[in-house]
Amino acid sequence: MSDLEYGQQEQMEDPTMVGTLRAQAEMIWPLEMPLLERLGFGKATSLADLGCGTGEFAGRAAAQWPDLAITGLDMFEGHLELARTAYPVERHPNLTFVRGDARATHWVDSSIDLVSIRHVLHALPDVGQVLAEAKRILAPGGTLYVLAEDYAGLIFDTPGDAAQRLFFDAEAALTPHGTNLFHGRAVLRELMEAGFEDVRVDPILVDTLNTDREVFARMLRFWRDGYAAFIAKSGGFEPADIEARFDALREAVEDETRYGCWLLFAASGRRPAS
Ligand SMILES: C[S@@+](CC[C@H](N)C(=O)[O-])C[C@H]1O[C@@H](n2cnc3c(N)ncnc32)[C@H](O)[C@@H]1O
Repeated sequence: MSDLEYGQQEQMEDPTMVGTLRAQAEMIWPLEMPLLERLGFGKATSLADLGCGTGEFAGRAAAQWPDLAITGLDMFEGHLELARTAYPVERHPNLTFVRGDARATHWVDSSIDLVSIRHVLHALPDVGQVLAEAKRILAPGGTLYVLAEDYAGLIFDTPGDAAQRLFFDAEAALTPHGTNLFHGRAVLRELMEAGFEDVRVDPILVDTLNTDREVFARMLRFWRDGYAAFIAKSGGFEPADIEARFDALREAVEDETRYGCWLLFAASGRRPAS
């Protein structure tokens, strides 16, 4: 019997995840920020960031909207310590990091204007429980924002198709661990089923034209180092095979004549007013 809370817990708490989250924020935040402005982040007074990790998102949001009181919550103290060091309260008086479980938080009912959940739900078997908790703590009319991953949205100009099949092979390998690498396409339905209103999904397309190739390549290197052994072991592949496929994706991104992209789904919905 595993004593993990969820199948990807080791990878989520591995030191490589720190680099992954930094690279992802560098790529995604510039595309995401205007969307969040449109969703009302600039006018709200409180934000709970569930599964905040190393605080890459909460920290950027705190700097962008100094009047927004932000609390990042995560179950892993190691990431929270890094978050508090990177975004100290002296520089960000509107930002706090607390340890907790996104499935059962400390907030009282109807007390928060905004809840964000980024890069988390695909890895959890209990998505409905987290969405129900988000709805409970949101004030009537408050907004939930979910950045959802779907690994079919990773497309690279690689020779042959072995590298391009990597995430399909990984999906089959990781499903028994409670991970859904194709979660992004389900997020609209999940928010509706959880009882949110005005649910919408905005695409965020990170690609080799709108982001720095070096940052994109760095993320793929961290993914390889953090996940190749797990995927290989889970799916019965040779580790060298999976590493080579991650490397082929990275090489496509590093080559200025080749294209690569990552399509993410930015979903949002409002808690009904009554
Ligand atoms: C991939 S990281 C995302 C970090 C952050 N949201 C970001 O966008 O940079 C996923 C995080 O979710 C956290 N996590 C997983 N399950 C959780 C739960 N039930 N409650 C709180 N945090 C959880 C992990 O510890 C990890 O830090």
